[in-house]
Amino acid sequence: MASNWKDVLELAVSIELECAALYEVFAKRSTNRRELVYFWMNYAEAERYHAASIRIHQSALAGIPEMGEQKFEVESTDAAAFLSAIRAAREKCEREGVTLPEALRLARWVEEHSAELHGRIQFFKVFPEFGDLLQKMAEEDRAHRDLLTSAERRWAAST
Ligand SMILES: [Fe+2]
Ligand SMILES: [Fe+2]
Repeated sequence: MASNWKDVLELAVSIELECAALYEVFAKRSTNRRELVYFWMNYAEAERYHAASIRIHQSALAGIPEMGEQKFEVESTDAAAFLSAIRAAREKCEREGVTLPEALRLARWVEEHSAELHGRIQFFKVFPEFGDLLQKMAEEDRAHRDLLTSAERRWAAST
């Protein structure tokens, strides 16, 4: 599917913001344990920061005249499906609440999937300027996932 480069980046920004919104729901649901509120708010901040980094690159690209309305072949079906899945998970957690083990499991799924998406989106092959940012975000999401795995172990005993 040929997509406008702006749409592809818009989708990437939406995914990061939706991840942040999910973590904010986890924080809201953890007000009885302050360490957990901080834990989830930190995660939400990291995803908002990813969204902001993409935006900065987006406006830098918009300043390049030959970018214009350039379209390119990109497989964004997986990214769009991922966005809907995170949104559905967030709405369910808002509606029905979420236990800590469930929240940790969901977050690990999100981080694993977004690290993989960052690494896969063809866009960054077309625009190597994005390579470094993408690689950095993928590394951070992998680090997030690893931290979640140790948090799961740490808190498994206390829940
Ligand atoms: Fe991210
Ligand atoms: Fe992340």
